[in-house]
Amino acid sequence: MNFFSEKIIDWYLINKRDLPWRKTKDAYLIWLSEIILQQTRVDQGMDYYLNFVNEFPSVKHLAKAKNEKVMKLWQGLGYYSRARNLHTTAQLISEKYNGKFPSDYETILSLKGVGEYTAAAIASFAFDKPHAVVDGNVYRVLSRVFGIETPIDSTIGKKEFNILANKLINPKKPSTHNQAIMEFGAMQCKPANPDCLGCVLNTMCFAFSKKRITELPVKANKTKVRNRYFNYIVFNYRGKTIINKRITKDIWTNLYDFPLIETTTELSETEFLKSSEWKKYIGELDYTVKSVSTAFKHILSHQKIYARFWEISCKTPFNSLVSDTTISIKKNDITKFAVPRLIENYLKGWI
Ligand code: ADE
Repeated sequence: MNFFSEKIIDWYLINKRDLPWRKTKDAYLIWLSEIILQQTRVDQGMDYYLNFVNEFPSVKHLAKAKNEKVMKLWQGLGYYSRARNLHTTAQLISEKYNGKFPSDYETILSLKGVGEYTAAAIASFAFDKPHAVVDGNVYRVLSRVFGIETPIDSTIGKKEFNILANKLINPKKPSTHNQAIMEFGAMQCKPANPDCLGCVLNTMCFAFSKKRITELPVKANKTKVRNRYFNYIVFNYRGKTIINKRITKDIWTNLYDFPLIETTTELSETEFLKSSEWKKYIGELDYTVKSVSTAFKHILSHQKIYARFWEISCKTPFNSLVSDTTISIKKNDITKFAVPRLIENYLKGWI
């Protein structure tokens, strides 16, 4: 066994966190945990995982669920296409494989929503197959320990790290090795201020000996971020409001929010109320502006959203504004719908 694998496994067996998905060989549960953990940190992911397992103890249970229910359980995790893929894939496994999760790496990889990382995680954790996982933690550990300066977001870099990770994997203990390297990245070889003096790999670590911890791993492209300005219209007519089902291929497809007027720049309150978009939208409705929230800033991987909520009291019913994709509901019933985290944050000050 190589020194690297031996050291991280020894370290892992002493330092590992007690996590429920590490105590099972059930591929369905491992898949579920990995899809959730792509979205969030372990501490937040735990509740989501336990709720999903409780609600859907097997892939057949998940397959049979209503999509709305799956989306509601996923609420707050973001990247809602992942929840839809989870559901579609559960249906495929249930029908095509009679509920038995495939064990072959290529077949696992062919499942919707499963990329190389997740396929390697499932193949190794559930079926002890020697496929190395390569996620952000692994990139960091390998680039620092072995001094690899190839950008991790380049095609050539991905290949290089993948080859190295597969060379290092211990074929007798692929599951433990993979868990160990990821845990090592998460707990020991942290992005900022890692405790290198207390690290079991410091004698072989390139970055530590050359004092280059902060420079590794290298990233070529810093992602471009787009600013968006959302004006949400929160109507109130006798305790009722309008919500909107997001059906377009933008963010948050199939989740619910409020009627939205998006602008390309930030508008003052007066500018907004004078804008043609608002005038066109509100038409002849008799209303007063009850309040306007401060901007809620919501950061996604490629977008920064600045959202303001306009609370509008209607003097007459708002029927003219209800359309194919909007519904009129009692305000308090909004908790029954899956909404994006941004809306959830706004509602915290509301209900
Ligand atoms: N992050 C992604 N997969 C994980 C796992 N299996 N254990 C801990 N953190 C993770």
